[in-house]
Amino acid sequence: MSRTPEIDVGDYVREIPGQQFLVRTEAYTDEDVFELEMKRIFERTWIYVGHESEFASAGSFKTAYAGRQPIVVIRDKEGKIGAFFNRCMHRGATLLREPQGVVQEMRCPYHGWIFDLAGRTRLVSERGDPGGYGANFLEPQGLLRVPRMESYRGLLFVSLDAGIEPLASYLGELKAVIDAKLDLSPVGRIAIASKPYVCRYKGNWKLQTENIVDAYHFMHTHGAFVKLQAKYGDSTGDFGVHKGRSSREMREQRFRGETWSCRQGHGFARVPAADPGYLLDGEFGRMYRELLDRHGEAAFAGITAKATSTVFPSMGMIHQQIRVWRPISVDETEVLIYPYEIEGAPDAFNAGMLRSQERFYGPSGFGMADDTEIFARVTQGLRASSVEWLVFDRGMDSDERTESGDYRGLPSSEAPQRALWRAWENMMRQASKHA
Ligand code: FES
Ligand SMILES: [Fe+2]
Repeated sequence: MSRTPEIDVGDYVREIPGQQFLVRTEAYTDEDVFELEMKRIFERTWIYVGHESEFASAGSFKTAYAGRQPIVVIRDKEGKIGAFFNRCMHRGATLLREPQGVVQEMRCPYHGWIFDLAGRTRLVSERGDPGGYGANFLEPQGLLRVPRMESYRGLLFVSLDAGIEPLASYLGELKAVIDAKLDLSPVGRIAIASKPYVCRYKGNWKLQTENIVDAYHFMHTHGAFVKLQAKYGDSTGDFGVHKGRSSREMREQRFRGETWSCRQGHGFARVPAADPGYLLDGEFGRMYRELLDRHGEAAFAGITAKATSTVFPSMGMIHQQIRVWRPISVDETEVLIYPYEIEGAPDAFNAGMLRSQERFYGPSGFGMADDTEIFARVTQGLRASSVEWLVFDRGMDSDERTESGDYRGLPSSEAPQRALWRAWENMMRQASKHA
């Protein structure tokens, strides 16, 4: 029987509208809170499991988790992508262990039952042998399907909650950010370029959810990178992504734009392109001029803006990458970074973007190491549990409520972080089927 922690989730987030927003230390450190999150959040939201381009042929699969529950997503012989619980119907072994790959069928390593790519039972091993199954044996028809799977522009999400709202409505305002990122492609498509860069940090999963949309920290946490960019910003091949000739200019540029706090828990920060002329007249001017002609000025501004976003609870889009984070335990998180290619863009453009990612996020990058170090520092600091609260007030008095129920904030508002905590509190208060 699963453990059902007895905790009062009513006093972890304190909000006085327009004035104060506090989160209790134990929301990051308490193991019972973590267990409850797995059930009340991760088993009830839409969880990103991959992009269609990763399932190139029949048998292409990825394994993933919705909270604690292992899942396999696989393309069948008819070309359909299905999501199943990664668990043999006999006595429970996981069928596929690798993060991704290609198989002909799903064969259980324990007693050798075989399931086909559409999840149907193909073979019960040694069925008719002495001591085998009798004539009345009720053979399981196949693997259990995950209740919901939907795609938005090739991004695949699953949910264990059969009654969840449709993915498109769940994404809400964030659809505009996803659209803008994908519309950078002349054909409106991206493709995952490689297997992910994987790292782990010693800290709670919500530190990553908060950080990917934290416009406030950049100039501080990444101070060394800012200095480097001030010196080499025009020559690093990133087409203005981190453009800024001096740290003052870089700061001014970063403090344009806006942040959003979506009612579903998503957040994003959007900064307009430093200099659209730099794009239109630059090396890839032809591609950008065609985009301007096709989409018009307003949409073009969105396409060329620098946007970072999080899809509550555990996926984000930043730079030219999809990022996924998986809670391992209350103080350990796995992060998977998938750079993607812009389909139809010149090879040199995609190559340059990849170099730019490596410079900031890769194993020897300047940025990711700063952030994971900060997460460890926060985890260490939170052990001072005598201090009860963390402060998320920034920008509250200037955030505007929108018609959709979201909040729109100034560029370095903590509006996106408050989105996470409002949705968190809301979901944690609602008892689910299991807890
Ligand atoms: S557990 Fe899979 S065949 Fe026995
Ligand atoms: Fe960072």
